Formats: sequence, structure tokens, C-alpha cells
Amino acid sequence: MPTSFAETLRTYIRAGYPLLYLVTAEEDRAIELAGKALAEGDLARRKLFIWSVSRGLCTTDLKVVDRKTADPKRILPFLLEFAEPGVFILEDFHPFLDERSPTAALAILQLRDVVAPFKAARKTVLLLSPVLKIPPELEKDITVIDLEMPDEAELAAVLDDTVEQMKDNPKVEVNLEGDGREQIVKALNGLTRAEAENALAKVIVTNSRIDTEDLALLLTEKEQIIRKSGMLEYYASPERFGSIGGLDELKRWLRARGRAFSEAARAFGLPNPKGLLLVGVPGCGKSLTAKAVAAEWQMPLLKFDLGKVFGGLVGQSEDNMRRAIKTAEAVAPCVLWIDELEKGLAGSRGGAGDSGVTQRVFGTLLTWMEENAKQVFTIATANNIDSLPPELLRKGRFDEVFFIDLPSPQERATILAIHLTKHHRDYRDFDLTRHAGATEGFSGAELEQGVISALYAAFAEGENARLEDRHLERAIAETVPLAKSLARIIEQLRDEARHKWRWASGIPDERSAAATQDVAMAEPPPVPKKPKRVFEV
Ligand SMILES: Nc1ncnc2c1ncn2[C@@H]1O[C@H](COP(=O)(O)OP(=O)(O)OP(=O)(O)O)[C@@H](O)[C@H]1O
Ligand SMILES: [Mg+2]
Repeated sequence: MPTSFAETLRTYIRAGYPLLYLVTAEEDRAIELAGKALAEGDLARRKLFIWSVSRGLCTTDLKVVDRKTADPKRILPFLLEFAEPGVFILEDFHPFLDERSPTAALAILQLRDVVAPFKAARKTVLLLSPVLKIPPELEKDITVIDLEMPDEAELAAVLDDTVEQMKDNPKVEVNLEGDGREQIVKALNGLTRAEAENALAKVIVTNSRIDTEDLALLLTEKEQIIRKSGMLEYYASPERFGSIGGLDELKRWLRARGRAFSEAARAFGLPNPKGLLLVGVPGCGKSLTAKAVAAEWQMPLLKFDLGKVFGGLVGQSEDNMRRAIKTAEAVAPCVLWIDELEKGLAGSRGGAGDSGVTQRVFGTLLTWMEENAKQVFTIATANNIDSLPPELLRKGRFDEVFFIDLPSPQERATILAIHLTKHHRDYRDFDLTRHAGATEGFSGAELEQGVISALYAAFAEGENARLEDRHLERAIAETVPLAKSLARIIEQLRDEARHKWRWASGIPDERSAAATQDVAMAEPPPVPKKPKRVFEV
């Protein structure tokens, strides 16, 4: 179970870990929390010191301990001789460890030299850095810890501080009646303390007030900040389960979990749903399902671009992965959508030349998925499992792996009906049984494309022309489904699904029985109120 930074820090200090590394851009907050962590119980006797290149070693109230230590070459030898046990925070020491720095070799050596004596003397060095970059020589000696994003209590404190500061300002109106305060705090979720302060400041400058009218602006601010991370994107989508034809088993599974994020579910003893892997043929509704789930559950959808995790600099990729995960956790409850997982992870089986970076980044993801205690529901999609590492498919990572097959005749009829309805047609005017029969091997995307091509053909006959069965029939005849060329891969996936996975559309035997019957729609889409006969452009 992941624990808070303060708890983790206390555990490591107690266990005598000499070198800790904290990746954070929130240095002040980290120092404050470290101070609090040390103030309690058995650790109260260990003092906290802070070193920076500008001031040298200082106490927490900024009294200089020794001026000479401002020289980065002298701080570690100084600490080695230092008489008291303690926790020494080194701010921004990482540039001196950079392989391009002339001091790197010495700094690395000095750090290695303190490991054993520090263990014995109950001293701990905590390196604070906004980037995760550890020289390989030190990898075994340094333990990386995380600083969680501020929780709601901390964000509430930020809000209260801001309100307090505004109290005497007659130009700013504050109204946080009812659940206003809680709503604003919720909107700040996902931001660091400094970002929350800035977002509130911006709202005050813009609106001259703090109240729930600010929510929209706060959310926009937050979207901006998350977008700036470059890896996660807020994804708004109008799709709901009603837009998905077939996949009844999958929808049933998801519906059963929609309420499992509530307090009531926890009290009932249900675990948090963790996530789902959707594997299947291109164009059969994997991405569509991911979009619909978030809307259906009324959670924000964060699209995670794995490709962007792999930044240019060595070490940056792991850092990126951790940052993305932390942001998603802070926005929780949310749906984290990793589209085309296999592409993002290409090479994680140890491709030559990337010195195991992909593997390590992937390891971070796997560990998180297993531990993930926040309400982040991951939906990953993939069409090729050959390139997926086997450990991913093991139980415990995802709650379930679903295979999405090509649609059955019945599902094809529903999908056609959905897309006809989307284009303002009454599906009951069409012979869907016949079209479903003629579209063996078509994916959902190809059926959608068929409807659109038919609409073009009808429109070409004149603005008042009606879309008719013959247009659909022609469009269908002109389509060569992609599945023809993917027969072998599809068979392989089906085989895997038969043994290990769930079928998104229900067990195949039942489906083939249904296939011989006349097509009846399980869940017909709503008929448009005013069927329009004209193709709207
Ligand atoms: N089951 C379905 N019901 C309704 N529409 C569907 C269905 N499957 C696919 N479609 C249509 O096809 C489009 C593409 O499907 P989607 O993006 O979900 O495919 P995918 O499985 O993610 O494919 P890929 O592997 O290529 O990413 C959808 O936006 C939707 O319009
Ligand atoms: Mg897709």
C-alpha cells in the first residue's frame, strides 16, 4: 500500500537508510512536511538541516551551521564528521552529480563514502530535486521516494489562507456558503500547492471574488496545467454506452462497477476497481468504450500519451511516468486511458539501444497498477498482444482482460442502427437483417464508414433524395473489410481469449447460435424525434 511521504520518510529514517532521493518541484512543501515527520515520537531527537549552494548548511530557522559548506565539495565530508544524528536535506545537489559536471566523479565518490558511516551514525541525506537523475554508480545506494500531491485538507488550507488574506480587501467578495468551499477545494485537486495558490490568485484578479462562480475558471486553469505536463490530456467525449453497439458482456461488467467507487461500496467491503485491458481487432470499439465509460461514470477522462513519456534526456522518462501517475492520482476519481498500449511500450522487452529505459518506465507503471489505491480506473487498449510483455497480462494488474471480436450479425445490425440514428435517419426504414448478413467480417468502424458512404451517394442524387437500402447495399459491396487480411491475427486473439480472457460480446457459442437466427436488436438505439430526410451538412 502506498503511504504518505511523511510516513515513508519516517520508515526509511528509522530503518537507517542513508541516502534518499525525493523528486519534487515543491521544495518548500517537502521541507515543511519533512519537519513535521521528524517532530513526532521516536524521531523527535533527530534534527533537520537544510543545505543549499547559496547558504551552505543551515538549521530549519536558517541559522548557518558552517559557512564553508556552501562549497559543494565540502558538505559531504563535513557531514561525515558532524557529531549529531540528523536528517540533512540537500537542495538541488543534482547538478553536481551530472556526468557533464567536472565535480561529478568526486561527488559520486563522496556520496558512496558516506553510506556505511551514515548507517551507523543514524544520519540520513535527503536529496531534493525536481528531476530524477541518479548516476548509475549510486543506483543501489539511493532510495527514491515520492511526495504525494497535496490532499484536500492541504488544499483547503491554501484556500483558507487566500480567503484570510482577502478579508480586509473591500474589492474582493468572498462567498463560500453551503458546500462552496468543498467544491472549490475539489476543483483544486490535482494541482501542487503553488499551482493552487496561483490559480486562486488568477481567479481573484479576473473576477474580484471567490465563490462557486469561479469553478469553471478554476477547471480551465487546471486543464491548462495538466496539458502543460504534455503527457496527459483531458478528453471530453459525448459518447455513452448507448453509442456502443453490442459488447453486452463488457457493458454489463462496467455497469456493475460504476458505483463501486463510492463510500458505500468501501463500507460494503468492495475493492476499488483498478482497470481493464481491451484487446481486439482495429475499429471494433475499444477506444469508443474507454470514452463512454468516463462519461457514463461521470468521471474526468485523462488520455495518457505513453509515447510522450519517453523524453529526450536520460532519466527523464521515468520522471515523466511518475509525474503522469501522480497527476492522475490527484485528479482521482478519474479514468486513465492508455490507448494503443503496445505502441507506447514497444521495446520494453529490452530493445537494443535504449539501455533498459523503457523497461524501467514500464516497471514503474506495473508497480503502480498493482498498488494503485487511489480511484484511478485504467483502461488500456491494444490490438497486438505479441508485443505486450507477458507480465502485463497477469492477474492483479488489470481486473480483467476483454477481447473484442468482430461484431456478430446481431451486433452489426445494432451498430448500423446507431450510426443511422446519429445521422438523423430512422433505422426502422432499413432492412438491417439483410445488411447485417452482407457485412460478415466488417468492423464497427467499417459499418460506420458504410453508412457515411451511403449518405454521400444518396446526397449526390440530389438534396431531396432519400437514403435507401440500395445505397447501403452498394456501399457495403464496395468495402473490403480489413479483417480479411488480419485473419491469422484474429484467430490467434480468439484462441487466447478462449483460454484466458473474457469475450466482450459474450461466449462465442451462444453468439454463433444467435447468428443463425433472424437478427433482433438487443438494445435498439432511440429513434430520432423528428427524422430528417435531408442530409445535413
Ligand atoms: N461497437 C461499436 N458500436 C458503434 N460504433 C462502433 C463500434 N465499434 C466501432 N465503432 C465506430 O468506429 C469508430 C472507431 O472505433 P474505435 O476507435 O473504438 O476502434 P478501436 O477498437 O479503438 O480501433 P483501433 O484498434 O484502430 O484503435 C468509433 O468511433 C465508432 O464510430
Ligand atoms: Mg482505438
